[in-house]
Amino acid sequence: MNLPRALPWLDERRSALLAEIGVPAWWQPRALLPRPAAPVEAPPPVEPALPVRTAPLPKIPTPEAPAPVPIERPVTQQPATEPTHADIATLDWPELEAAIHACQRCGLAACRQRAVPGVGDRRPTWLIVGEAPGEEEDRQGEPFVGRAGRLLDRMLAALDLQRGHGVYIANVLKCRPPRNRNPEPEEIARCAPYLLRQIALLQPRIVLALGRFAAQTLLTEGGCLPPAEAARAPLGRLRGRVFQARLGELTLPVVVSYHPAYLLRNPVDKGKAWADLCLAAETLASADGAALGAPPA
Ligand code: URA
Repeated sequence: MNLPRALPWLDERRSALLAEIGVPAWWQPRALLPRPAAPVEAPPPVEPALPVRTAPLPKIPTPEAPAPVPIERPVTQQPATEPTHADIATLDWPELEAAIHACQRCGLAACRQRAVPGVGDRRPTWLIVGEAPGEEEDRQGEPFVGRAGRLLDRMLAALDLQRGHGVYIANVLKCRPPRNRNPEPEEIARCAPYLLRQIALLQPRIVLALGRFAAQTLLTEGGCLPPAEAARAPLGRLRGRVFQARLGELTLPVVVSYHPAYLLRNPVDKGKAWADLCLAAETLASADGAALGAPPA
């Protein structure tokens, strides 16, 4: 298991957040740690120096009062013909959202109440990709608004992140599969161009793939794994590392983690999911350090 090392420092706020989520809170992402005056123990030789976070922590969002994110509802117009993959790759935001809302590219269109394009900051640092809308998302038109979404929000809060602020959240499928069944490969193939166009427009700095279908789609599309290998690989083998995915014209770090719905059923793995978030945060911090010309450790 590739968990970060135990570290001595833990502030009360983050401790409380992690305890509430059910994460064993005995370590912190190095990127969030204040630098100690004198190191307790020598740092491992190959680790790069990471910048110290000095900005004050924002107010803790509570599960009862999640930050409201307005949903922009485009006017949906049924196009005369369905857009092809090539068409989708040229759409701007209003056109893309209208195309998703009007989409008939697969059979899920017939079952949906609402298509769910995504929500959040359109110049995000983080892109979080889930699987598909569930019942509540299908009703509200926004991703991750059910129980799994509340857990996701709390895990993000523990990293000082909030949906809508530097974070965009989307799914591989934009329509709910009936009875929340797994996405079919054909549905993913038909829907993936929308996600790829979102990535091109968003230009995030890091992508967090939640669950098997998000991981398979992003790693396959990004040329990190052959489709057959991605389909076979258990999620536990894909997490704990940083993939460099070529997604359109961008090469982006992709970190894979457990889907929050899985974590609700398997709370014992919440610590690993937290480790994945920390890995992603450290990857960003290392990239910032490199951009600032930090000397190698
Ligand atoms: N699960 C997902 O993968 N996405 C959602 O939006 C909700 C639940």
